[in-house]
Order: sequence, then C-alpha cells, then structure tokens
Amino acid sequence: MAKERAPQHATTSRASVGAGRSEPTLHQRTGENQPVGRTAKLPIALDEKTCAASLELLNRIVADSTTLLDLYKKHHWQAAGEMFYQLHPLFDKHLNEQLELVAAIGERIRLLGGAGIAMAAGVAGTTTIPRPPRGWEDVPVQLSRLLEAHERVLKQLRTAARLTAEAGDYGTNDLLVSDVIRTNERQVWSIAEHLVDAPPVRAEEAEAAGR
Ligand SMILES: [Fe+2]
Repeated sequence: MAKERAPQHATTSRASVGAGRSEPTLHQRTGENQPVGRTAKLPIALDEKTCAASLELLNRIVADSTTLLDLYKKHHWQAAGEMFYQLHPLFDKHLNEQLELVAAIGERIRLLGGAGIAMAAGVAGTTTIPRPPRGWEDVPVQLSRLLEAHERVLKQLRTAARLTAEAGDYGTNDLLVSDVIRTNERQVWSIAEHLVDAPPVRAEEAEAAGR
C-alpha cells in the first residue's frame, strides 16, 4: 500500500519558520478574502441584486444599532442620581438585548453573502446617530438621547422592512420585524416612561400639575 504523503505546503511552512509541531505559527496574513461590496452568494433562491440591496440596508442598521448599544454602555457607566439603581441595570439589559440583535443581523449579513461592518472605525464612518460628549450628562438628557437614537434606528428599520418584503427577502424581513423592530419599540416604551412627570406619592389634579 502506498504511503500517504503530508500536504507539501504544511511541511514547508513549518520547516521554513523553524517551528516544531507544538509551536504556534504566528504573524500570519493573507489578502482580504471578501472585500466589502462583493457578495458570496449561497443557494437560498434569492438573486444577487436582492441580496445586495438587503446587505446595504442591514449594514446601515448594524452601524446605528452598534452606536445605540455604545450609548447604552456609556449611560450604564455614567448613570447617576436618584434613579441609579433602576437605570444602571436597565441600561445594561437593553445593551445586551441590542448586542443580541446586532449578532443576529451580522449572521444574516453572512447568510446573504456579505461582509458586515464589525469594527468601531467602520461603525463611526457609517452611523447617523450624533456623537455624545465624553463626559456624563444629566439623566433626562441621557434618556432623551437614547429615545432619539431608537427613533433613528426604527425609521431605518421600517423602510428596510418594507423594501425587503417588496423584494421577497422574507427571511430578512422577518428578522427585522419580529425581533429588531419589536425589541426597539419595547425599549422605547421602557425608557420613555421615565420621562413622564408622574407624582411618586400623592396624586395631583391634572390641571394644577400643568398636565
Ligand atoms: Fe456593568
């Protein structure tokens, strides 16, 4: 029986760097396998044009959702004042839910044959959400910023939901509608209720309270 030969490239690369089998081969680089904008189509019965259109929409949503996630992280760290014990964990909960959404969209981008925006520099160059100052702001300002960011994301999501349905990309449409839109709407509700000026103990006449 003929002896099986080890693949030539594996033998030569180990020998050429002088590393034994137990040593890691470090500092490896290759060219980029899939530049942004080029799709690597899978057999999912969607044409390349439809996939490319969905990828464009999804990458913009990833950039804004990642910025929203960062805004939650900033406000989680910088929560202060009377509502600290309420807002500190709430911001963290929303942050983790946004992270799950971004992960699901990122996987959908791969499934459609695209390369998603993953690094901070790519997010910064694409997001439409205004950059907050580095220092901490009052809680009502933090809440307002979050609501404005959610609304920007939701506006994009509604457009993307309509376009993906019209194009027949129902998988993307379902992810956007069932998961991303509904989670963002629920988070808006949780945040917005903190900006209602309701009396904590004694009820007031609406007229006297200026409501
Ligand atoms: Fe934390």
